[in-house]
Amino acid sequence: DPELIADGEKVFKKCKACHQVGDGAKNKSGPMLNGIVGATAGTVDGFRYSSAMEEAGAGGLVWTKENLHGFLTKPKDFLDGTKMGFSGLRKEDDREAVIAYIGSFTK
Ligand code: HEM
Repeated sequence: DPELIADGEKVFKKCKACHQVGDGAKNKSGPMLNGIVGATAGTVDGFRYSSAMEEAGAGGLVWTKENLHGFLTKPKDFLDGTKMGFSGLRKEDDREAVIAYIGSFTK
């Protein structure tokens, strides 16, 4: 849905201090997010994750839409020990839109 993706691009402004998507996206203080929807947590090449995130991925955490909703609502509640220093997106519509936006970038 192109309108949802456009809304998500606006929400992603909150993420841009730390994350990149799109052509040439690189790891910054957060991992690049191309292909993240459906990926195993903590597996972007070359990014230094918290041990909490690495263990979650090793334990089988996959970034389904549902898990992204959980994480993005309040990151530290969803994953104790994560080093993502972001308070979260309390509005479901904002989460839905930003997930659609990042989901439009594949690897
Ligand atoms: C991790 C999304 C905002 C820093 C992640 C992951 C996702 C994500 C999906 C997991 C990546 C993976 O498993 O490979 C988002 C979105 C944001 C946002 C959609 C905005 C709504 C931020 C901000 C910062 C940040 C503002 C910096 C202040 C990080 C860091 C990690 C991370 C450091 C790695 C966490 C760890 O290793 O525990 N983010 N993020 N993120 N993000 Fe964000």
